[in-house]
Amino acid sequence: MLTTHQKHLIQQTIPVLKTNVQALTDYFYQRMLSQVPELKETFNMGHQRDGKQAKALANAVLAYAENIEDPSVLLPVINMICQRHVSLAVQAPDYAIVGEHLLHSISEVLSLSMEDELIDAWATAYQQLAALMIDTEKRMYAQLRQQQGGWSGWREFTLVKKVAETADVSSFYLAPTDALALPAYRPGQYISIRVQVPSLGFKQPRQYSLSTAPNGQFFRITVKEEALEQAPGYVSSTLHQQLQVGDRVEVSAPMGEFTVKDATKHNVFISAGIGITPMVALLEGLTQIPTSQPPAAISFIHVTQDAAHYALREEVTQLAEQHSHVKTLIHYSQALSGGGQFTLESVPPSLLTDNADYYLCGPAGFIQMISNELLQRNISPHQITHEVFSTGGLTTS
Ligand code: HEM
Repeated sequence: MLTTHQKHLIQQTIPVLKTNVQALTDYFYQRMLSQVPELKETFNMGHQRDGKQAKALANAVLAYAENIEDPSVLLPVINMICQRHVSLAVQAPDYAIVGEHLLHSISEVLSLSMEDELIDAWATAYQQLAALMIDTEKRMYAQLRQQQGGWSGWREFTLVKKVAETADVSSFYLAPTDALALPAYRPGQYISIRVQVPSLGFKQPRQYSLSTAPNGQFFRITVKEEALEQAPGYVSSTLHQQLQVGDRVEVSAPMGEFTVKDATKHNVFISAGIGITPMVALLEGLTQIPTSQPPAAISFIHVTQDAAHYALREEVTQLAEQHSHVKTLIHYSQALSGGGQFTLESVPPSLLTDNADYYLCGPAGFIQMISNELLQRNISPHQITHEVFSTGGLTTS
């Protein structure tokens, strides 16, 4: 347990560490990945190169320290991080490695010796957080193993089908190589897939939303190819250019909380670009639920460049044709003259009711814009769930 004195010491150093979080992060990853190179197969090396999201770990430790008096406020965030860790098969002993390198980085940034009482205080705070996370992850792994068809860590899958959806988007159908059962995941969840990246010479994991409701036979992910010159493209370009039917990949069990909270409510799905992928799974899942009542309304709103870039179009069209309670609005951004951008103003009000739950997926800027519009329309934050698709990763809240 931290003493009051240690808490003071930590609180005094938070501002300087926050100001220097970039240096802290750079030093941390450089030190850790050069001394423990096998961890390169766990971390997203695209993030290491472009700096995106790489600060997340250090920032989370600082946020924990800031809330040391009442860390319970961070529990939802910790739960989300642990889901991501479980999806990446992070193990308890990894925490000791991360802790050691993080503390050395703090000592470096603050120009303190490792024996300083401040480092000792940070070590205690880190261990406290790590213990909480290890415990949460242990429970998640156990839950996954108990599930029918479930597993924890990596499982070998075989690519059984590859379908080009648009010029730069393909679907990958993956079946477990052992031909044993698959778990009944919740539509909207994601998996991690890990492949050998030839240009790096080692494996890389990435998260992708599942783009169908569960079917017991295969998982399907629908992936946009990112340029290889840009670091985020390591995995997507390997999938698009190298992976052939019959090839093996590693897959972790479905995780994530971007799932429908209440199927009896009006649910509104708003996506942009490749953000359509979990939406198709959500739509398919909702329309499969048997109900004696007339089903609740579903709005499916999607923004994409033009018809040629509209991935999974046939599926959406078919589901809407088969289910009269599904209303779709597809907005082609390139058809706009004068450079105007999509706003909810162009959506008929019946598709956006006050009591509906809203699910948003796409780039961060799109989600920010649509969230703001919804909040301005007095939609409560509790009614809005989103999943950000940044290059090479996704984040839910
Ligand atoms: C107390 C310790 C830790 C904290 C506070 C922490 C925090 C975080 C946060 C905030 C994220 C971003 C989540 C998101 O945006 O979805 C993250 C992602 C990640 N964490 Fe941790 N983490 C810790 C320990 C570890 C350990 C021990 C490992 C394994 C060696 C690890 C591996 C990763 C990986 C691979 C990602 C995904 C991002 C990427 O690929 O670079 N973390 N972590």
